[in-house]
Amino acid sequence: MPRIFITRAIPNRALKVLTDVFGSGSVDVYEEDRIIPREVLLERVKGADAVLTMLTEYWDEEVFESAGSTLKILANCAVGYNNIKVDAATARGVAVSNTPDVLTESTADLAWALILGACRRVGEAERYLRAGKWDSWSPNFMLGNDVHGGTLGIFGMGRIGRATARRAAGFNMRVIYHSRTRIEADVETELNARYVPFLDLLAESDVISIHCPFTSETRHAFGADQFRAMKSTATLVNISRGPVVDEAALAQALLSGEIAFAGLDVFEKEPKIHSDLLTCENAMLLPHIGSATLETRTQMAELAARNIVARLTDAPLPTCVNPETITD
Ligand code: NAP
Ligand code: GLV
Ligand code: GLV
Repeated sequence: MPRIFITRAIPNRALKVLTDVFGSGSVDVYEEDRIIPREVLLERVKGADAVLTMLTEYWDEEVFESAGSTLKILANCAVGYNNIKVDAATARGVAVSNTPDVLTESTADLAWALILGACRRVGEAERYLRAGKWDSWSPNFMLGNDVHGGTLGIFGMGRIGRATARRAAGFNMRVIYHSRTRIEADVETELNARYVPFLDLLAESDVISIHCPFTSETRHAFGADQFRAMKSTATLVNISRGPVVDEAALAQALLSGEIAFAGLDVFEKEPKIHSDLLTCENAMLLPHIGSATLETRTQMAELAARNIVARLTDAPLPTCVNPETITD
């Protein structure tokens, strides 16, 4: 009977994927509803054949070493896997899986919540009303930016970037994008999207929405120089990973009026928020809820569980990020 460790409670439907195959005795779930403390993680992964982990756990050499040679798969309950040193996993023959596709549409929906919320000052307006400050309709009250008819710039035109771009048609927006590689011509046509160099994306966009992974290349891809190159009326949305944006520089740009608005779902040191950002009324700040719908979170955990079942029964993995580890 294999030993499967899960670092935080997951939806029952996903747990059942594992218990149906291996029995409930093989599954060990960290019982507290909080991030598993590092020392507890190091202890509980010992001798596990499989671990289902959250993006809040950082998997470096030390954790793989603690898990030991029994570990065959690490299933991340997220599409982004910057919390895992994949090289270290690969060197030990540990398969790593993630959860692409099942969260694409829900995350693109939330990108639009941020685009609309930031441009139309939704968070700020609601805070104002709840504070009892609203006294009357007024022609000059809470004026934001029109979203419709503007230019949407997508940084990282992958699965979520495309789903976000697709929704722009309903707002009659022009779509431009930048990635390291240009996407297929027929997809460009379908999305009505134009490939541009990064500097043009910065200069031409009314809204920039960030959808790249966090890598050594994308760290602080958006900083003081980039904000200076953007329109003073522009909005920046980040629903990828916090460190892609230099938060201190963003707060300065928002406070000085270098750019107009920001909508953020992710932060450099979650759950800590840069103190200057918290003072920016022109920023809409959400607690990393991009994929947070009941159906999507259930499907993510199910997909992670299905990857574990596949690895432990020698079947092909649905979504492996280091397939070179699967040799049998
Ligand atoms: P994906 O399909 O792999 O798309 C990522 C895109 O980023 C690709 O088009 C890639 O194209 C581009 N990219 C990579 N490196 C780049 C660089 N240096 N400069 C510019 N573009 C670059 O991934 P996805 O499924 O859309 O997910 C994207 C990210 O969103 C995830 O990695 C995760 O961090 C984040 N996410 C966040 C939430 C949330 O709750 N906030 C939810 C889901 C996902 P090229 O390789 O051609 O450059
Ligand atoms: C969430 O942030 C994910 O990467 O799935
Ligand atoms: C506003 O409520 C309007 O009717 O214009």
